[in-house]
Amino acid sequence: MKFFLDTANISQIETAQNLGIIDGVTTNPSLMAKEGIKGDENVFNHYKKICSIVDGDVSAEVISTDFEGMIGEAEKLASLHPQIVVKIPVISEGIRAIKHLTSMGIRTNCTLVFNTGQALLAAKAGATYVSPFIGRLDDIGENGIELIEKLVDLFNYYGYETQVLAASIRHTNHIIKCMEAGADVATCPLDPILGLLNHPLTDAGLEKFLSDHRKLNA
Ligand code: G3P
Repeated sequence: MKFFLDTANISQIETAQNLGIIDGVTTNPSLMAKEGIKGDENVFNHYKKICSIVDGDVSAEVISTDFEGMIGEAEKLASLHPQIVVKIPVISEGIRAIKHLTSMGIRTNCTLVFNTGQALLAAKAGATYVSPFIGRLDDIGENGIELIEKLVDLFNYYGYETQVLAASIRHTNHIIKCMEAGADVATCPLDPILGLLNHPLTDAGLEKFLSDHRKLNA
């Protein structure tokens, strides 16, 4: 399973890249706003900066909701850097846009996916990735991981090449469950990724190794 970092924060992207465990980055307009990135040129430069730090795919989201607007934005975003994947919302104009962009060789990440039907349309339109938001499903009492399991099974059964990119991951156990479900990618904030390292027996074991070493070498 690939790990994407779900942030527009340069310092977190550098930290994860230095760990050597991330395969890409996803952003969205809320994450860009959180970093205070505004104005087209600043936004474009920020995407280019992210691409210069990581090796893999970097998702950059359109803000238009009409077909022509999405295509215009997608062409501009894709021209910024070969690592850019254009994020498009799963609305009818978005599905049209994904189909068109796919035929132009522009890779897409279909976002704001909350059920199987939406994911099916994204896959049929040729999306490179489909992004089910599992945390937001859990927030309303549904089961985000079950959707990941279903999509992985259905895409495998029908041979869709679209990759299941689990998004809106809120905690470390979500990552483990996505892996068990067979997600192609999990995009996560940095903290849940670092949380994978935590185990009290590791801390206690390391402390014991070091204190035994200190005793002998004092
Ligand atoms: O990748 C989508 C993600 O950024 C949404 O996460 O926590 O706002 O639901 P969240």
